[in-house]
Amino acid sequence: MKKLSVKLGILFFLIIFGLITFMFFFLHMGIAESRVEEELKALQARGNSHRAVLEKHFDKETIDHVVLMESESLTDVIITNKDGKVLGSSSGIAQYEKYLKIPNSLNTAEGQIVEDNWKDEPYIATVSPVEVNGQLTAYVFMFENTVSVHSLIKGLNEHFFLAGWITVCLTIIIIVFLSKGITKPLLKMKEATSQMSKGEFSVSLPITSDDELGDLAKSIELLATDLNYLKQERNEFLASISHELRTPLTYIKGYADIVQKRKLPDEEREKYLKIIVEESNRLSVLIKELFDLAKMDQNSFAIQKERIELKPFFTKMEQRLFLAFQEKGLHFTLQCPQNIFIQADPLRLEQILLNLLDNSIKYSQPGGDIKLKAWQRKKAIHLAVQDNGKGIPEKELPLIFNRFYRVDKSRTRSLGGTGLGLAIVKELVHAHGAQIHVKSKEHAGTEVELIFKGELKQ
Ligand SMILES: Nc1ncnc2c1ncn2[C@@H]1O[C@H](COP(=O)(O)OP(=O)(O)O)[C@@H](O)[C@H]1O
Ligand SMILES: [Mg+2]
Repeated sequence: MKKLSVKLGILFFLIIFGLITFMFFFLHMGIAESRVEEELKALQARGNSHRAVLEKHFDKETIDHVVLMESESLTDVIITNKDGKVLGSSSGIAQYEKYLKIPNSLNTAEGQIVEDNWKDEPYIATVSPVEVNGQLTAYVFMFENTVSVHSLIKGLNEHFFLAGWITVCLTIIIIVFLSKGITKPLLKMKEATSQMSKGEFSVSLPITSDDELGDLAKSIELLATDLNYLKQERNEFLASISHELRTPLTYIKGYADIVQKRKLPDEEREKYLKIIVEESNRLSVLIKELFDLAKMDQNSFAIQKERIELKPFFTKMEQRLFLAFQEKGLHFTLQCPQNIFIQADPLRLEQILLNLLDNSIKYSQPGGDIKLKAWQRKKAIHLAVQDNGKGIPEKELPLIFNRFYRVDKSRTRSLGGTGLGLAIVKELVHAHGAQIHVKSKEHAGTEVELIFKGELKQ
């Protein structure tokens, strides 16, 4: 029994059936017992009222009158003297004879029930003793047929059986409904997920309901789309990596072959060896950057935040980059007030700023201006690297954080770019819980701004 709908249907059936059985036993018994009790009380009351009449006038005429009254009703009366001799009877006495026994402990005032076993006996019976002048003189026996109680019970039984049949039918309907409404969509989802586990991501699930099942179907579709996107991205990334690795390797191999095979003048040999060294450097930078990104993807690198004072931090970086600025004839300006502090991992912050400054140096013309700025606005600390270099075309701006993305592939290659710098910067900035924004205009310059939230000026 694997089907969910059958399981749910049977559960439903068992609950309803249990409820009906419970009701059948308790309600059914309760109703029958209370009905019999009422009948007995009424019978006793009737007997007692005959007794009252007889106590006033105990004579043949009154006895006949009582008998006559009962012969018209559904109950019967038998009046006996104190020794059990029948004085009057509203119908024959043969069927009542076995009940004409005086109970041992007779309650003379209230009368007594003689027979209350409605289940097995055809009659229920009561007796009321008649006292004339303080002397026990006679007994009034009252009888009532139990047929009416039995027919009541029969009626009840029929109702309960009907209810039982209705639950069986309802259960079948519910099983059919459940298998359509629940099991089918679940089976489709199961098929979809097993398809996905085989690498087939183009699944489409009909979202028919707005309940949890519909939500689940939506989530599975979303998952499929995401996985598909990740798969494509991974393929593109792998293709880019192999391309990026192949290019420097081709150079290295090509020039190494030339140097090895041909007898070259020293000057030319030097030139080729220099290219080999440069390309090897590129390769090791590329591999280091890829490794950084891989670590970031796995979240296996830790950001160890410290309180850093920005002014001395920037000054140290300026000193490190001094030669690079000078080589290209660039003017560097530092705009940072004293006593601005930031909570960041110093090594990572240095990596971020070096990447941004390196870009500004690479993509600026000689004589250009590069600014490194920091300021505080409300509770946030803003850092910015600004240049008046070649800028980035507007339509390419959203793409520059993509891995291996370079605006001008051939030119940037000659500048030694890998296209991974900004991807790494973005990951590092986000790992700090900070934001990064780029503003750029072609041929006018670029400004990259970082916003670190919640750092207070000391
Ligand atoms: N300051 C800048 N000025 C002009 N272009 C820039 C600047 N910074 C980044 N870019 C563009 O964005 C691309 C991606 O930058 P990045 O990821 O650092 O790669 P890389 O520096 O290795 O080329 C660069 O190739 C360049 O085209
Ligand atoms: Mg770069």
